[in-house]
Amino acid sequence: MKADDIKTVAVLGAGDMGHGIAEVALIAGYRVFLRDIKPEFVDKGANRIHDSLAKLVSKGKVPADHYEKIKSELFVTCTDLDEAVKEADLVIEAIPEIMDLKKETFRQIDKSAPAHALFASNTSTMSISEIGSVTNRPEKMLGLHYFNPAVLMKLVEVIKGDKTSEETLQIGYDFVLKNNKVPVRVNKDVPGFIVNRVQAPSVVLFNAILDENIAEPEAVDAVMRKLGMPMGPYETMDYTGLDINVHGSKYYAEAIHPDFAPGKTLMAKYEAGELGKKSGKGFFDWSNGRPQIDVARATDKFDPMDLVAVNANEAAKIVEQGVCSFEDVDKAIINATGNPMGLIALIKNVPPEQLTERLAKLAEKFGKEIFKPSRLIAEGAYR
Ligand SMILES: NC(=O)c1ccc[n+]([C@@H]2O[C@H](COP(=O)([O-])OP(=O)(O)OC[C@H]3O[C@@H](n4cnc5c(N)ncnc54)[C@H](O)[C@@H]3O)[C@@H](O)[C@H]2O)c1
Repeated sequence: MKADDIKTVAVLGAGDMGHGIAEVALIAGYRVFLRDIKPEFVDKGANRIHDSLAKLVSKGKVPADHYEKIKSELFVTCTDLDEAVKEADLVIEAIPEIMDLKKETFRQIDKSAPAHALFASNTSTMSISEIGSVTNRPEKMLGLHYFNPAVLMKLVEVIKGDKTSEETLQIGYDFVLKNNKVPVRVNKDVPGFIVNRVQAPSVVLFNAILDENIAEPEAVDAVMRKLGMPMGPYETMDYTGLDINVHGSKYYAEAIHPDFAPGKTLMAKYEAGELGKKSGKGFFDWSNGRPQIDVARATDKFDPMDLVAVNANEAAKIVEQGVCSFEDVDKAIINATGNPMGLIALIKNVPPEQLTERLAKLAEKFGKEIFKPSRLIAEGAYR
């Protein structure tokens, strides 16, 4: 099988990610079955797709006749799981991040999807190998990790599970290209894959800054806003939801290292129900909309280079494990975030001794082993 043989795609889950993944495939000309568990859920996802496509047509980004074809021929919605997958050449799962739910779904579709169909999961964190293990086709199981919002974000991580065949991975890679997205190969099924993994230590750093009373959220966010970031780290955590941050941190603490466990301040907020934007209060007060960050309050107690150093250190660890190259780290980060510059590009001219010293100091100051300089940083392999 080749990517050209994929004509029909089933997308399971019509939520934030599923509807976006389906829309991207429809724009690229695929026949798409979008499935959710209740008619109102699938309708909601379909309406989001139609609203977005109508806008893209009015901006001249999608031809009007292609949208007509999508409506009349390409786009099918359903609630029956077997119906959704029975003609699929590729199934992309985007249902909630619950392992048992994913396994149950793949177990069922393994029986009803055509034998040649490839299976992909859009999981942000879970093991592709474990999900694929419940099927009789683990060599046809891969990760296709889109970023939110899928229509805008270019990156799709193409993840190899333990048993994924080279052929499956290549078809996944080519399929992403045909969807006008940027694929990056993730050669090993590690927690967080590339982008989320590389950024995971930042949460540890920002937690530690609060727990050690080094600076206030606004003072740190002000530093990053002054550097031109549209949103500082604490506002971003509030925006995503502190519950999501707690769950993510707990997962990394189990899967990678206990140092990733959620910090005291974060846990206290989570337990008090202060979850950020969704509850009206988190690190900031959201009751009157987005918090106003006073850039004049920027602190000199937080050096943004510390953030770059801990993230680059994590990147070096996954490069050492054979997950991807340093070039791919930057390709992934640029296309997942829209940042003009990658992480490794930021440290390219920094001598390894300087980075090593900075990381060793951070490890000592915060008592975090994960900040200790990794081998490839010490060797300057990123240069
Ligand atoms: N939201 C993000 O930023 C993001 C980014 C990348 C990956 N992901 C991953 O994508 C997946 C979906 O996340 P989301 O944000 O779109 O979630 P969501 O809650 O917005 O959507 C999930 C949808 O799946 C439906 N669903 C389909 N089959 C189901 C079943 N058997 N049981 C229960 N619900 C079922 C739900 O009704 C819901 O509409 C998760 O694995 C998540 O980790 C999320």
